[in-house]
Amino acid sequence: MSRWLEAKVIENRHWTPALFSLRVEAPGLAFRAGQFVRIALDVGGERVARAFSFVNPPQDPVLEFYGVVVPEGPLSPRLARLQAGDILFVADNPSGFLVLDEVPQAEDLWLVSTGTGIAPFLSILRTDACWSRYRRVILVHGVRHATELVYRDMIDGIRRERGAGFRYVPMVSRERVPGALEGRIPAAIGDGRLEAAAVPIRADSQFMLCGNPDMLKDVQAVLAARGLRKHRRRAPGQITVESFW
Ligand SMILES: Cc1cc2nc3c(=O)[nH]c(=O)nc-3n(C[C@H](O)[C@H](O)[C@H](O)COP(=O)(O)OP(=O)(O)OC[C@H]3O[C@@H](n4cnc5c(N)ncnc54)[C@H](O)[C@@H]3O)c2cc1C
Ligand SMILES: NC(=O)c1ccc[n+]([C@@H]2O[C@H](COP(=O)([O-])OP(=O)(O)OC[C@H]3O[C@@H](n4cnc5c(N)ncnc54)[C@H](OP(=O)(O)O)[C@@H]3O)[C@@H](O)[C@H]2O)c1
Repeated sequence: MSRWLEAKVIENRHWTPALFSLRVEAPGLAFRAGQFVRIALDVGGERVARAFSFVNPPQDPVLEFYGVVVPEGPLSPRLARLQAGDILFVADNPSGFLVLDEVPQAEDLWLVSTGTGIAPFLSILRTDACWSRYRRVILVHGVRHATELVYRDMIDGIRRERGAGFRYVPMVSRERVPGALEGRIPAAIGDGRLEAAAVPIRADSQFMLCGNPDMLKDVQAVLAARGLRKHRRRAPGQITVESFW
């Protein structure tokens, strides 16, 4: 049984009218980078809870969540309206298997995301294990519009710190943007543009995928054509996934 902790909103940053990042102060919570936790608000006398991935690394005492407003959704529009000083509930039992402990060691680690699916990777990228276990780390972020390529300052900081060990490949599907690949991630793997922008996919590359479930399916299909398959504890492979819905 989990308990609810009371957390206080410190900041609600709006990147676009639909995209927001909540920074909250909560009593100590142990988790592993890449995990999620249920967060909740009371709506009409009922507690409405949804899973959110931690953006902050475990050593950072301020919790951070990155969200999108699903207009008809019961929780996300309300989270987007929270202001500094408001109270949010956070469950005391973070969980999830999109964590490096579950991913075999390799030369290259690919972190492939769409939309808010970048959140757990921002946590993972700020852990030491990410850099001690993999020689190169490639972050791919697919979004509809350029304004949704969020956390650029943080990503630039990682680039400065890690040099050639880190590649960032932004992808925008609904407009042409200089410096970003156009279209969807599976197509860019299929026609070689993603590898040209990053590094070649190797037989032993490890992939972590997060975001839109259709993207997870389509990326796994193009990677299967290259001989890569889902990683399981009893049947090691190269692909670890987390679906947001
Ligand atoms: C393990 C896990 C981790 C998650 N982490 C995050 C996170 O870090 N940030 C985040 O914004 N959401 C995350 N989600 C989704 C989140 O739990 C909610 O579903 C989302 O915030 C919408 O809540 P809602 O109550 O407004 O609508 P819901 O009733 O929960 O969802 C309605 C519909 O909205 C769509 N949808 C839901 N989430 C998203 C999304 N993130 N992006 C685009 N479309 C979506 C789906 O079609 C879904 O059926 C995660 C989900 C899971 C299972
Ligand atoms: N993004 C916003 O600013 C915004 C604004 C208002 C409301 N919303 C709500 O948020 C939800 C969607 O949010 P989102 O845009 O973050 O997520 P999304 O719909 O999952 O789109 C994110 C990226 O994933 C791509 N994608 C979708 N299916 C794919 C597949 N099979 N393979 C590979 N890539 C795929 C999209 O490409 P395509 O463009 O080709 O689909 C887009 O580039 C909806 O409920 C929407 O109403 C979003």
